[in-house]
Amino acid sequence: MMIVKWIANNENDLSAVNGIFLVIATTIVLLGFSFGRMSKTFVYDTTWNNLEKYSDSLIQHSLKVNSKTNGQVTFNMSRIKMTQSILENQSVHFTVFSAKNQVVYPADGVSPQITKSDWHHLQKDQIVRKVSNKNAKLKNGKTRPAMIEIIKPYYYRNKLVAAVSAGAFIAGVNSNVARINRYLLKGLLVSLIISMVVSFFIARRLNRRIAMLRSGANQVSNGNYKVRLKPGGKDEIGELINDFNRMTASLEKANLEIQRQEERRQEFLADAAHEMRTPLTTISGILEGIKYDVIPQESRDKSIQLMSDETQRLIRLVNENLDFEKIRSNSIQLDKRHFNAAKVFSNIVDQLTNKAKESGDQLILNSPDDLPIYADYDRFVQVVFNIITNAIQFTNHGTVTITGERGYNETIIKIADTGIGMTEEQQKNIFERYYKADASRRSGKYGESGLGLAIVHQLVKSHGGKISVASKKGKGSTFTIIFPDETAAEKKQHDTGSNN
Ligand SMILES: Nc1ncnc2c1ncn2[C@@H]1O[C@H](COP(=O)(O)OP(=O)(O)OP(=O)(O)O)[C@@H](O)[C@H]1O
Ligand SMILES: [Mg+2]
Repeated sequence: MMIVKWIANNENDLSAVNGIFLVIATTIVLLGFSFGRMSKTFVYDTTWNNLEKYSDSLIQHSLKVNSKTNGQVTFNMSRIKMTQSILENQSVHFTVFSAKNQVVYPADGVSPQITKSDWHHLQKDQIVRKVSNKNAKLKNGKTRPAMIEIIKPYYYRNKLVAAVSAGAFIAGVNSNVARINRYLLKGLLVSLIISMVVSFFIARRLNRRIAMLRSGANQVSNGNYKVRLKPGGKDEIGELINDFNRMTASLEKANLEIQRQEERRQEFLADAAHEMRTPLTTISGILEGIKYDVIPQESRDKSIQLMSDETQRLIRLVNENLDFEKIRSNSIQLDKRHFNAAKVFSNIVDQLTNKAKESGDQLILNSPDDLPIYADYDRFVQVVFNIITNAIQFTNHGTVTITGERGYNETIIKIADTGIGMTEEQQKNIFERYYKADASRRSGKYGESGLGLAIVHQLVKSHGGKISVASKKGKGSTFTIIFPDETAAEKKQHDTGSNN
């Protein structure tokens, strides 16, 4: 009932159940058939073997051979009768024949007759096994019930002395076969029912899990990467469910990354447009003024200078953007070398002293004369230059201190100023592209595109180094940059590279 109801509800499941049921039913029918045949052969063989043994013991007990008279045999009738009466309980019947094919025992007239071909076998010392299926009519009008029988010859000194036919009623033997077959049938029926029920549950579980996988796959194709299926089972379907879950997890991750990149791209486009609009608006305004001749003669030079500055700024913006993208996508090649960072510091200090003076700042260099570092020379200059320029830019009448020291397998550089400082929120964002903490403080003197620290950050990262900032609003900021020494792997690569 339950199976029927379930099948009615699940048309799709029908095929799986049908398939399994068909296989089981066919197997069981084939098994039943061959076991049925086997049981008959087995019972008949056993009966023939037993009949042989009975006949042997009968002859042992009742036949006497007189060796003096050259093999003349005598039958002990009373012994034959005794054996027969014992074996009658087992429904076994004997007929004893003389060497001349004459019935010696019994004299009831229902003895079987040995046919010519049977006698032929006996003369060759062969045992004849027979099944006489029909109730045979004898010559004297009596009937002999169907029997399973053997006829066995007995020899003395190569001379046939007697033959015994032993038979059991076939009805009895067949009832044994039928009984065995009945048990067999019961067993097969029970196993059929059990296996059907078991396979029903297996098929149902299988179908449920496949349905679950299908609905999961549908959800994924509809763009839902959050689906996770309930894991279960250590079989192939269970493995498939685990694989499915792993797949959706990585799809979800990839999808998030795509979304994030898309957001960044849009942000970048908006920011870039915004950044370029300011100089373009300035240039366009001045050009309009020139076109309609509304710029007084004395401001013309100033206006042209402004246009030139703004154009330079645009060019710088484009170049820096390109640079940033190159570094970010790892398409720049770093030419790392060992050099003395202290020399770089003093060069930069020389270059920036005038700029610092304009802001009333003092540059202090605090580094050992020899400060080994492993980095791309030009990129290192770019990083330090950027941070010191920022420090000067955001400090008025204060100090900018450059400290260099060796750490454990690394070189540590600190650039501290006593300038305007930053809030925690600002510190979090300064390494983002286009971020400017205070948009109103635009002197235009040093560019100010908000790209400087974003580029510095990427450069330090591609060196395998670290950059961090500690700052307090109104007190000043300290930038710390760490460059790691050459690693063993780099050294190996370097050596093999230079050998070639
Ligand atoms: N030493 C500093 N003290 C205070 N604020 C700083 C300091 N260095 C950076 N900042 C803040 O971080 C922001 C981002 O710096 P970043 O160098 O990336 O851009 P920028 O200097 O404004 O422009 P540019 O692209 O020309 O360098 C600055 O606008 C400023 O608000
Ligand atoms: Mg800057």
